[in-house]
Amino acid sequence: MQLVQASAISKSYAGTQALKNVSFTLEQGQVHALIGENGAGKSTLIKIITGAIAADQGTISICGNAVGQTTPALMKSLGVAAIYQQPSLFGDLTVTENIALAVEDRSMLGRVDWAKRRQWAKELLDRLGARIDPDQEASSLSMPQQQMVEIAKAIGGEARIFVMDEPTASLSDTEVDHLFRVIGELRTKGAGVIYISHRLDELSRIADQISVLRDGESIASRPMKEVDRAELVKLMVGRDVSAIFPKQKVPIGETVLRLRDVGNVGSGIRRVDLEVRAGEIVGLAGLVGSGRTELANILFGLTPATSGSIALRGKAALIDSPQAAISAGIGYVPEDRRHHGLVQSMSVTENTTLATLGAGLLDFGAERQIATEFASKLGTKTASVDVAAATLSGGNQQKVVLSRWLATKPKLLILDEPTQGIDVGSKSEVHALMVQMARDGMAILMISSELPEILGMSDRIAVMCQGTIAGVLDRAEATQESVMHLAFPVLPKTRGVA
Ligand SMILES: Nc1ncnc2c1ncn2[C@@H]1O[C@H](COP(=O)(O)OP(=O)(O)OP(=O)(O)O)[C@@H](O)[C@H]1O
Ligand SMILES: [Mg+2]
Repeated sequence: MQLVQASAISKSYAGTQALKNVSFTLEQGQVHALIGENGAGKSTLIKIITGAIAADQGTISICGNAVGQTTPALMKSLGVAAIYQQPSLFGDLTVTENIALAVEDRSMLGRVDWAKRRQWAKELLDRLGARIDPDQEASSLSMPQQQMVEIAKAIGGEARIFVMDEPTASLSDTEVDHLFRVIGELRTKGAGVIYISHRLDELSRIADQISVLRDGESIASRPMKEVDRAELVKLMVGRDVSAIFPKQKVPIGETVLRLRDVGNVGSGIRRVDLEVRAGEIVGLAGLVGSGRTELANILFGLTPATSGSIALRGKAALIDSPQAAISAGIGYVPEDRRHHGLVQSMSVTENTTLATLGAGLLDFGAERQIATEFASKLGTKTASVDVAAATLSGGNQQKVVLSRWLATKPKLLILDEPTQGIDVGSKSEVHALMVQMARDGMAILMISSELPEILGMSDRIAVMCQGTIAGVLDRAEATQESVMHLAFPVLPKTRGVA
């Protein structure tokens, strides 16, 4: 049975035609991947299917019945559930309360038995194999845990059509395995999943069918078994993309950053020793929760170190605020760029030059020129550099934030998941730009959950585990295994029975 049938959908925004006559079918028991470059129209199509926005033309049918006016409430009642990359739980409510709120009629809250609700929440989470306490506040859960609660909500609400927009973007390998098991179960039970991802390697593991969008048009729809990675890339980009990691050797200079015994009690970072030199790209690897982002937050003065010492180019540095970090020559591209990186209402130009502006040196013409230059270097798809950042697709917004920090030319650049959400074609452009910056003498600290990116781009790899650096590997000696070996906590040896 066809769970979703989208026929001849078109959608325009001022200046951009996001979708042109696109058709898409989701069958029962199918995981259908939707892929394409940044700005191809993927999010637009699924927003139409979930009722978040209306199509200009075309029809949506659910289980064979055409839906007139699509609204979020109507689509939800027809079994469509959206699992966004950024979960939308109420932070100060418990897991049980969040699930109850999503599933029940609001007027019922307060009347029904909470013990029963708690039990039900627990059953839903158990079904997903998620070890989450139903009494915990949602804000205290990790991202992947929050995602599991979102899925529990959807299953509790008897969803049959799951829409996932880049669900694995910030998950570790183990968490991805877990999510895939859950998706596998949904499929077995006859649900359908629309799955968007820029991580092409995952698709052969999870997808039954792939559909490719390019510039708002359907390019192809094929069973996953019949296409390989190279072909996928070609369908998406319209050309061959060869080197994904164009790392080149560049001369290594003075030590830019030196950490000695650095810690922060609140964020669980302890005894970190690390050096990053000019021209060097140091990869910071580790499992989600190992403290990589927390260490970056210390270096940028967001949660200043409570112990140890930080030296920049040989001089002791007090980094007690982001302002102090910026004036010391540190740039930081955070992971959660949609919230911390971008001012949605400002133009692409303003967003690009936001950090440089503090210096007060630029006139408007010069700003536009910088924004234009970076947009062309990174292939940022935008109607012009004068439109609001909110009108760009997710991946193109990422590129704008990246441009901003590259434009300030800091001495030390910290990148948290620099290519998250960025399509394969543009990934190599981001990597090439990183190498160019390193050649100009920038020191780069790169956090990434993608091991191929870490192994491909780093001169040295520092592996974090439980809040500290478990070991540093040279490019030549590092392998997937040696990195993972350091990333996993060492369990106490079980004593042999005499
Ligand atoms: N609110 C909006 N106003 C104007 N243009 C928009 C708006 N939302 C999206 N667009 C444009 O529609 C096109 C498709 O965007 P969409 O978000 O669907 O891309 P995507 O395939 O999801 O890309 P990504 O991989 O970067 O997330 C883009 O050119 C984008 O700039
Ligand atoms: Mg998108």
